[in-house]
Amino acid sequence: MSEERVITPEEKEEDQGFDLTLRPQSLDEFIGQGQIKANLKIFIEAARQRGEALEHVLFYGAPGLGKTTLSHIIAKEMGVNIKVTSGPAIEKAGDLAAILTNLDKGDVLFIDEIHRMNRNIEEILYPAMEDYALDIIIGKGPSARTLKLELPQFTLVGATTRLSMLSSPLRDRFGNIFRIDFYKPEEIHEVVKRSAKILKVKVDEAAAEEIAKRSRWTPRIANRILKRVRDFSQVKGKDEINKEECGAALELLNIDELGLDEIDRRVLKVIIEKYNGGPVGLGTIAAATNEEVDTIEEIYEPFLLQQGFLMRTPRGRAATKSAYEHLGYPVPEENRLF
Ligand SMILES: Nc1ncnc2c1ncn2[C@@H]1O[C@H](COP(=O)(O)OP(=O)(O)OP(=O)(O)O)[C@@H](O)[C@H]1O
Ligand SMILES: [Mg+2]
Repeated sequence: MSEERVITPEEKEEDQGFDLTLRPQSLDEFIGQGQIKANLKIFIEAARQRGEALEHVLFYGAPGLGKTTLSHIIAKEMGVNIKVTSGPAIEKAGDLAAILTNLDKGDVLFIDEIHRMNRNIEEILYPAMEDYALDIIIGKGPSARTLKLELPQFTLVGATTRLSMLSSPLRDRFGNIFRIDFYKPEEIHEVVKRSAKILKVKVDEAAAEEIAKRSRWTPRIANRILKRVRDFSQVKGKDEINKEECGAALELLNIDELGLDEIDRRVLKVIIEKYNGGPVGLGTIAAATNEEVDTIEEIYEPFLLQQGFLMRTPRGRAATKSAYEHLGYPVPEENRLF
């Protein structure tokens, strides 16, 4: 069911071509995340001056915030090739060894969903990242020997939505770890205007703001809403989209004025109606809403926490006063958690 939903921040098939046209190609074009950009600019400049590969970089953050985009930008700014793979795609140690030995000096190896890499395979990365070396074991039993194979200097760029699922030996080998956060309202506003320009859709200021407000502060969702709003206005025969039309389109998409969709609301409602506001365990919430624990933890919870609708307590999740208010429930006076 989540496949049908506009606000899923994960990439959907319909996004692919669309994401490509809208994807910023350079750090200057990339909106927001000022701190990360400033750091990257310096690291890239310094590495280029020394003629060395950039230190390994790890990006973590919720889906759709720009991890893949930044990885491609790094390769472009360094003027090197990028090889793309993902944790679950590497099935055997040999697969990774083949990828590594095929890199050229300075290349970027991008491993998406790096937390889903098999531990045995992961161990190959340790000497590769640290010493640009591949340890190959020849033979079996007592006569087995290790052979060290030299690799070209390369940069590993990892992306993950779940930093906590990365083993510490792997995490420690990244020189730079960047957390990509939700965007600020004015940044998403800018993303909407930039995308509208590329797509040649006219949105007025108020409409751009409306889309930004309901985008979960996530560029991928902002772009997706923009696309739906464009369809809507096209069918209505309008050439400039105003706030009212935006609102009507968003209503059809079941996204409320704060960007919450049906499942967000269902999660909060379950906590409020069935569990007296919580705290209640994630597993129980998942069962009661018919969603996967992972989906709630990775997709819904970060946004609800960030917006202050949900609290994490040692005994589980609890709804906040704002959640009661937003969903129109009377706020209980005796709640000790508020
Ligand atoms: N800073 C930005 N400025 C403008 N557009 C952006 C920005 N960041 C992301 N986007 C847009 O959002 C889309 C999604 O970004 P991206 O694919 O990089 O996200 P991601 O973090 O890799 O997501 P996932 O975890 O699902 O892989 C991009 O194709 C691009 O169009
Ligand atoms: Mg990605």
